[in-house]
Amino acid sequence: MLENKWNTDLYEDKHTFVWQYGEDLLKLLSPQPGERILDLGCGTGQLTEKIALCGSVVTGIDADPSMIEKAKHNYPHLQFAVADASNFQVEQPFDAVFSNAVLHWIPKPDAVIQCIYQAMKPRSRFVAEFGGKGNVHEITIALYGVLAEMGYTSPEMPIPWYFPSISEYTTRLEQHGFEVTFAVLFDRPSRLSDGDAGMANWIRMFGSRFLSGLSAEQQTHLILAVEQRLKPVLYHDGTWIADNRRIRIVAMKSS
Ligand code: BEZ
Repeated sequence: MLENKWNTDLYEDKHTFVWQYGEDLLKLLSPQPGERILDLGCGTGQLTEKIALCGSVVTGIDADPSMIEKAKHNYPHLQFAVADASNFQVEQPFDAVFSNAVLHWIPKPDAVIQCIYQAMKPRSRFVAEFGGKGNVHEITIALYGVLAEMGYTSPEMPIPWYFPSISEYTTRLEQHGFEVTFAVLFDRPSRLSDGDAGMANWIRMFGSRFLSGLSAEQQTHLILAVEQRLKPVLYHDGTWIADNRRIRIVAMKSS
């Protein structure tokens, strides 16, 4: 699922906003005691644990073995497995599938939707949040701008994320048999931790594809130049803000 090489410690220590914002999504899921729920792209398991605390029987899956290893270490009483969101099958279908901040990493949305659909019981729900059209627009423009100045042109580095519009994504869901009951695209500026280092951490964690093939010196140059471009728009009172824009959806499997 991921082409990013995740550093699980950096993910847990400096990017807590990923699952802290996801707690809000849990209200939309409203996990019920006894329900079997699949947490798709569970990362290091923080939201999986919150679902379990509602009394649901939850399984977390993630394509990255290091994330699953950390999740098992964090929550040894819960069920976790390595699985690719665009190519998995379940033995017993679930009452709900939940996914936070993952689907934008997977460039095969139809394969993912098909896997999710077959993993669900009739009349069950799929609740998800991920980056939507326009997500991290300022950051992306700055990265491409500096890379172009350094002699790298954008076709060599296609955008590494999938940020669909509402109409594109809901159409795909309907084509696969879902009924979409809720869909919203909204700006959610995210405060990055670690003060001045926030944007550099973000680029190394989420934009590592932009750094690949560059020497350590070039990477440092890229990050400093991107920071310089972004400072007037995304740095306020000692804190970097990522210009996140999210899609949130609820879709039902009708039969
Ligand atoms: C996000 O969480 O919105 C995001 C993740 C990866 C890349 C860009 C944005």
